[in-house]
Parts: sequence; C-alpha cells; structure tokens
Amino acid sequence: MARAENIVWHDATITQSDREARSGHKSAVVWFTGLSGAGKSTLANRVEAELFSRGIRTYLLDGDNIRSGLNSDLGFSEPDRMENIRRISEVAKLFVDSNAVVLTAFISPFREDREKARARVGDQEFFEIYVKCPLDVCESRDPKGLYQKARSGAIKNFTGIGSAYEPPLSPELIVDTSVETLDACARKVIHLLEDRGITGKRPERAE
Ligand code: ADX
Repeated sequence: MARAENIVWHDATITQSDREARSGHKSAVVWFTGLSGAGKSTLANRVEAELFSRGIRTYLLDGDNIRSGLNSDLGFSEPDRMENIRRISEVAKLFVDSNAVVLTAFISPFREDREKARARVGDQEFFEIYVKCPLDVCESRDPKGLYQKARSGAIKNFTGIGSAYEPPLSPELIVDTSVETLDACARKVIHLLEDRGITGKRPERAE
C-alpha cells in the first residue's frame, strides 16, 4: 500500500554490475528459514565468516537484532510478521544492489511472505535455505528459554506451538541441524553458492 504520490524512480549512475565487475563476485540473498532454535543464526554466522575470509562482501541480517532497531515497532501477529519480512526483503534488495552477499536469519514462517521476498529480490539472486530441525529438538535446545515460556502460556503465538511454521516446498537447499554438523551444513551452503556462480571456487574444488 503505497501512501506517497508523485514519486519518480531515479536510476543511479553506478550500478550493481559496475560494483560486481570491481569486486569480482556476484551479489545474492541467502535466506535461512526455520523454527526458533533450529540454528539459522549460528549457520548464517558460520557461512558469513567463511565468505568474509575469502574477501567477499557480506552482510548478516538477524531476527533479534533487526527487531531491536529497524523493526522494533513490530510484534508477532501475522500482519506484523508479514511486515517484518517485507521490510527485510527491501533492505536485502538494497544490499544486493550494493554488491553484498546478504545472509538473512529470520523464522519467516509463512510461505507467501518468503515467495514475495524472492520475487522482490529476483529468483536468480535468491537462495532459500531450509534449516530443518524437529520441533522437539529445538525445544530441547531452547537457547533463550522461550519454548518453556510458550508451553507455560506466557507466550501465546510462539512459532511451532501457538503459531504455524510453513516449511518451504522447493528451497534451493535443505540442511538438517539435528543430524548434520554445523561444518557440514555450512559447506553445503558454500558449495551451493559456488556452484551457482555467486562466489569463485576454492582451488581444491576447481575443475
Ligand atoms: S518472524 O516470524 O517474524 O520471522 P523473527 O525471526 O523476526 O520472526 O524473530 C524470531 C525471534 O524472536 C525468535 O528467535 C525469538 O527469539 C523471538 N520471539 C519472541 N516472541 C516470539 C514468537 N511469538 N514467535 C517466534 N519467535 C519469537
């Protein structure tokens, strides 16, 4: 719902492809989705560290951090979660234009919102990673004690308990943190980005 009128898009002089030509790597959004406690942030941080060590321009957008600043006016109702994801995809799009490989770690529970994010960013530059982990495992990890609060009724609409999580139907990648190590999951993500031409290959993987 656009409120402003008389807005005219202004093309910038320096474009995304100018930036890509200088940096030598493509831009992308690596969109991690999954339950709270599935390991999205941990995995996104690990992948970012690896990409950063290779000289790739990266930026991490993380649920709890964005919610303490940009999205501090949003809660966890369905419309608020939708707006949360909408703003994040706009921010991610800006970072893509700046030639970053953006890693996002949000539950992003609703399929439709993730599809809108994909459409906004562009299919070629959007990599949806389903960080799979059974609810009972996430609950046993309970790193922030929130599942316990949800079970006791202190949080009404906690994802997986009082609010739905819709798993992706055709993500670019699925990792299962209940059976795979962090290293193995990170490697899979990196290989995906290499294979899709976002980053160069490590010498040992080059043909
Ligand atoms: S999303 O659903 O809108 O994508 P987001 O990833 O930004 O969620 O934030 C999730 C984080 O907020 C969780 O990891 C948890 O720490 C916290 N949180 C607080 N209340 C809730 C809730 N009702 N449901 C899910 N997460 C919550």
